Amino acid sequence: MTYEQAKTLLAKNGQEHVLQFWNKLSKADRAALLAQIDTIDFKELKRCASLLGDTAAPAAKKGKPTAPKVAELKGAALKKAAAAGGKELAAGRVGVLLVAGGQGSRLGYDGPKGAYSIGPITGSSLFYFHARKVLALSIKYACRLPFYIMTSQGNYDATVAHFEENDYFGLDPRDVIFFKQGMWPGMTPDGKIILDAPGHIFMSPDGHGGLIGALKAGGCFADMKKRGIKTLFFFQVDNPMVEIADPAFIGLHTLEKSEYSLKLTAKREPTEGLGMVVKRDGHFDMIEYTEMTDEMNNRRTKTGDLYFKFGSPAIHVFDRAFLERLANKAMPLHLAHKKIATVDAKGRIVKPAAPNGYKFEKFIFDALPEAKGVTCFAFDRAEEFSPVKNAEGKDSPATCKADLQAKWRRQLAAAGIQVAETMPVELDPVYALDAADIAERGLVLRMG
Ligand code: UD1
Repeated sequence: MTYEQAKTLLAKNGQEHVLQFWNKLSKADRAALLAQIDTIDFKELKRCASLLGDTAAPAAKKGKPTAPKVAELKGAALKKAAAAGGKELAAGRVGVLLVAGGQGSRLGYDGPKGAYSIGPITGSSLFYFHARKVLALSIKYACRLPFYIMTSQGNYDATVAHFEENDYFGLDPRDVIFFKQGMWPGMTPDGKIILDAPGHIFMSPDGHGGLIGALKAGGCFADMKKRGIKTLFFFQVDNPMVEIADPAFIGLHTLEKSEYSLKLTAKREPTEGLGMVVKRDGHFDMIEYTEMTDEMNNRRTKTGDLYFKFGSPAIHVFDRAFLERLANKAMPLHLAHKKIATVDAKGRIVKPAAPNGYKFEKFIFDALPEAKGVTCFAFDRAEEFSPVKNAEGKDSPATCKADLQAKWRRQLAAAGIQVAETMPVELDPVYALDAADIAERGLVLRMG
């Protein structure tokens, strides 16, 4: 893009101020600024601007939210689902999708969150546990299981480097596909793009809902089609307990002919920070935890159970074709009012004391109302969910390590091996994904 082209485009969109310091910029800064302008979708930017000042809560959406039906599979039904899912895996029709664009800011960790060390003995990273599970499944089902990893623009290089330094944790690099999510410019309340330096636009990642557009832009849908992938298992980077591509979950999704399936778990307490799947106006929808009212959080059934009992740990299964269909649709935008460093009229950097601008994000679960079939599948959180979100307290490295070790101890005990509570324990997923694997392989102890 040339300076003249940028000037015309910005003027057409009421954003001329972006070039106000042009004469003071170095050659390199000018080129970088033009490159940034070139990435902006001005049609989408208009949509962002039209939302400013719109504080309509989700409660204002059409229809009264009600709790959905949640499948709790046991016995023969569970076996049937697991067999159906196993067939999909073995046929190579499943892909794994990880959203890893976030930084570990709440953890106080300065790097891609997936590189955070969580192994109680080895100190292995979150990525290690995810990748080793993918490898274990590809061995178990004798299939290729492509692993698609979305990063932000900012943590792409560090993420790829982490995989390279660790020899892809044993995976075939051809089956690990990294792709970048998009970025949005921040905006002032009156719809002006924010400059955070004289030659630089403030931009932030477009949320995990940016996944759909990023899959398209990164050529991943084309890659999936070439491989014959029909079903995608989606998860977040912060939960090393996740049962990746759980055959029963994949199988239930396939048997129900759903486009979007979700694992749900009973909330630990009424206000736990989990998104809430609801039905309203004939569609499924998600109400984010920050948007649940006290009344909704605490509503009880006649038997004293929470009415909105099941929260979403963000473990989903999607039809590839469903996501591809959505790639041509504008997803809803969520606004966050933030303190964003900016420049004054003289180009001096100003750090605001109060929120002065907006960031925009898309959420993957906003795909729910678009899905033709939705299946909700209950699971036991002690086995599959213990995210690392905070440096201390709930959902911290300490609670996650304790939960991981409790799970491994249960698996070992089920295979006839008792491990004392005081003895640290860690299992490599390639050695064993469950108690049956341990019983089959016997135990190799690594001390230290
Ligand atoms: C999220 C969910 C919440 C769910 C909970 C379960 C949202 C808005 N909320 O909350 O419904 O119950 O997890 O643990 O997601 N990410 C990107 N790009 C981005 C932003 C995030 O890839 O631009 C990724 C992160 O790397 C992470 C995931 O999305 O893997 C979730 O992001 P995070 O900010 O940690 O969400 P939570 O607020 O914890």
